[in-house]
Amino acid sequence: MKHFRSVDEAGPDAIRRLLDLADHMAEVNRRPNPKVPALRGKTVCNVFFEDSTRTRLSFETAAKRLSADIMNFAVSSSSVNKGESLRDTIETIAAMGVDAFVIRHKSSGVPWQVSDWTRASVINAGDGWHAHPTQALLDCYTIRTALNRTNSFDGLKIAIVGDIKHSRVARSDISAFTMLGADVTLVAPRTLLPPETTVPVETNLDDIIEDLDVIYLLRMQQERMTESLVPSLREYTTRFGLTPERARRLPEHALIMHPGPMNRGVEMAVDPSELPGSVITQQVTNGIAVRMAVLFDLLGSGSNLEENE
Ligand code: CP
Repeated sequence: MKHFRSVDEAGPDAIRRLLDLADHMAEVNRRPNPKVPALRGKTVCNVFFEDSTRTRLSFETAAKRLSADIMNFAVSSSSVNKGESLRDTIETIAAMGVDAFVIRHKSSGVPWQVSDWTRASVINAGDGWHAHPTQALLDCYTIRTALNRTNSFDGLKIAIVGDIKHSRVARSDISAFTMLGADVTLVAPRTLLPPETTVPVETNLDDIIEDLDVIYLLRMQQERMTESLVPSLREYTTRFGLTPERARRLPEHALIMHPGPMNRGVEMAVDPSELPGSVITQQVTNGIAVRMAVLFDLLGSGSNLEENE
């Protein structure tokens, strides 16, 4: 693989290979010195045109654990503020010698544009409403480990609940979960659904909650809404939020997931740290292992993962 820009582009074999590779990376991360020289001499550049806590820091950590050099491009203090174009910005950074760009941008399709302007690998860290493939990968890895699965999700019932319309996480998760064989249902008010969906839709969470293996709550993305799509956040919580009552109705083994950042009291109307099924912090931890897997897969040709630092 040269780039990792979407789950669909990567395809099922690559997704399974990366999940298996993430297991090796998780083992590296459990060592007292969680560092290997696999990407020594490689340079990774984080280019984030949108805010991020989890994705940016976990790519930085992943690169460092593989001994790559990491550059962090801060838009707020860059020449973008003097009118420099995206293309000139990318070509300027590429001229410094970069092996991989990790890019987040508010416009869909930017990672594909960037790969036309550089010979470096391009990893999509979130483009508009379109895709967030490493989030999908870490979500699959979290389900796989927490439910003791292999790379087959056959028979798993997963509900993705909330603002599907504006969610790149939902689009990538739908692709990845169905690719591995899960039965995915979208649960949302009609106004927060895209015009077309490839999986079944349910508008009443209470009708299905007792049958779920995974409930995946999405953040209400108030920054992407230009119109009022729900009557009020309080009504949204009443119909679609994870309330204490709904948490009690979930099966004992069911996982509670959220990509973060979460709106407490809106989609998450319980304290997830008090729910045994919550794997939200494991999702963050697993993000490092899967991003190490992606970086190693793209840049690590010929290097030995077993060698210690
Ligand atoms: N899940 C996710 O993409 O979080 P950040 O926006 O903090 O990176």
